[in-house]
Amino acid sequence: MERINTPVFEPSPFCGIIEGVRYATGYGEGDSTAHTKHPLDIHIVRATKKDIPTMWAWGENHWELWNSKSCKWYSRASLRRWLADPQHDVLLVAKAGDRLIGMCVAHTIRDFAYCTGLFIEKDYRGNGVATKLVGQMMEELRKKGVKEITLSANAKNNCAISLFESFGFKKGYPTIPLYVRL
Ligand SMILES: CC(C)(COP(=O)(O)OP(=O)(O)OC[C@H]1O[C@@H](n2cnc3c(N)ncnc32)[C@H](O)[C@@H]1OP(=O)(O)O)[C@@H](O)C(=O)NCCC(=O)NCCS
Repeated sequence: MERINTPVFEPSPFCGIIEGVRYATGYGEGDSTAHTKHPLDIHIVRATKKDIPTMWAWGENHWELWNSKSCKWYSRASLRRWLADPQHDVLLVAKAGDRLIGMCVAHTIRDFAYCTGLFIEKDYRGNGVATKLVGQMMEELRKKGVKEITLSANAKNNCAISLFESFGFKKGYPTIPLYVRL
C-alpha cells in the first residue's frame, strides 16, 4: 500500500467541531496474526500510573484522538481515576525497552467495547506497533466476552482507517459527533 502522510487538522469553518467522522465497527473477527513485522524490541504491557503524563500529553496534542477542538481527550484526573480502577476495560501501552512509545485503550460496557485511544510515537510508526497493540486489545476484549468493538476515526485519518479495516472493522453510518461540556 502507498504510504501517506498524516493529514493536517483544519478546523471546520462552520463550528470548529469536526471535519467529519467515519464510524468503524468490528465484531471480534479480525485476524491479529495477519501482520508479523515487529523488528523492534517492543513489548505490550498494562498501563500504570507512571504512564499517565505521557498518555495525557499524547491526547492533549494530537487531533486524531479528539472529537472536537474544545473537547479533546481525557484529563489527567480522569486518566488517574481510570487507571486506578479499570474494571473490565483494557488499557495497554507499548514499550521499546523502557521507553513508552504507544497506547491503545478501550472501555467496555458488558459485551460492547469502545476504543477511545490509539497512538504511536512518530519515530516508531510503520513498524507494526499499532498492529500489535490493536491485536492484543481485541484478544483481551474477546476473552472478556466482548462481541462488538466500535470506534470513531476522523474521516481524514486514512492510516487509522486502513489499520482498523485490516482487522475486520467495517465503516458504519457517517455520524456527526455532538458534545457538551458540563
Ligand atoms: C494510525 C497509527 C496508530 C498507526 O500506527 P503504526 O504503528 O505506524 O501502524 P502499523 O505499523 O501497525 O501499520 C498498520 C497498518 O496501518 C496502516 N497504516 C499505517 N501507517 C500508514 C500510512 N502512513 N499510510 C497508510 N496506511 C498506514 C496500514 O494499513 C498498515 O498496514 P500495512 O503495514 O500492512 O500497510 C499511527 O500513525 C498514529 O499514532 N497516528 C496518530 C494517532 C491516530 O491516528 N490514532 C487513531 C485514532 S482512530
